[in-house]
Amino acid sequence: MSMLNGRTALVTGGSRGIGRAVALRLAAEGALVAVHYGGDDEAAKRTVALIEDGGGQAFAVRARFGTDGAVDRLFEGLTTGLAGRGLDILVNNAGIASTSPVAHLTQEEFERVMSINVTTPFFVVQRALPLLNDGGRIINMGSTASRFAVTTQIGYTISKAALESMAPTLANELGRRGITVNTVAPGAVRTDMTAGYTSIPEVVAGLESMTALGRLGEPEDVADVVGFLAGPRARWVTGQTIDVSGGTYLGPLV
Ligand SMILES: NC(=O)c1ccc[n+]([C@@H]2O[C@H](COP(=O)([O-])OP(=O)(O)OC[C@H]3O[C@@H](n4cnc5c(N)ncnc54)[C@H](OP(=O)(O)O)[C@@H]3O)[C@@H](O)[C@H]2O)c1
Repeated sequence: MSMLNGRTALVTGGSRGIGRAVALRLAAEGALVAVHYGGDDEAAKRTVALIEDGGGQAFAVRARFGTDGAVDRLFEGLTTGLAGRGLDILVNNAGIASTSPVAHLTQEEFERVMSINVTTPFFVVQRALPLLNDGGRIINMGSTASRFAVTTQIGYTISKAALESMAPTLANELGRRGITVNTVAPGAVRTDMTAGYTSIPEVVAGLESMTALGRLGEPEDVADVVGFLAGPRARWVTGQTIDVSGGTYLGPLV
């Protein structure tokens, strides 16, 4: 059964990594998917082609978050592609890493990570509200970084904690329209973002040793949970953070 037949979706950062897997999952369930991206045209084209090859429908929208007018450009492309239809599913997935410890995190880097990971998703939600159909879904891409401390990720941690904090308030505000708002919090997932450390066997072994299920995540592990939250079977789940980390850092593994 295709649970999202007739639905529309926007996946920010949908061209690569976790976002691509989410876009493919939602399209496979029948949704028309707007694949947003920042600048890598080839990756976006590839994601749209993969969806179309699988019998789905998608279009790409380019808007570099953190630059003037990005949200305007996103919504111009989105409304053109939707051609008068409303939006059913918004996945705020686009995000960047920050890998400086407190002593080295510059104000410029801090403001950039907050702009792309927090400010822009907030205003994407605001702009999406008039387009969102009753019964819709908002899913924000958090991180286990908001749950445990990694000194080199303090800026990223703050940004993901702030993003996560939006869901309960938005859920309360939008609940009477049947719109749910949740956060998905992955642990380490193999993507371009993490290639720097997931290519180091010792680091991978360390991460696996603190993960109950004993491996790193793949983008599809996250996409399947987003697909569930986007669908009708998650109608009674709202304002929550769903940890999608294979049980990372639950406690001592003896
Ligand atoms: N990978 C992990 O281990 C992990 C764990 C927890 C949470 N997350 C979160 O999951 C999300 C996706 O991560 P990922 O690992 O899949 O990342 P990724 O492989 O680096 O892909 C990032 C995506 O976001 C887009 N993007 C990046 N910067 C952008 C900008 N300034 N404006 C517009 N689009 C931009 C990219 O498009 P372009 O290439 O065109 O710029 C691409 O589609 C992020 O929010 C990340 O924080 C990741």
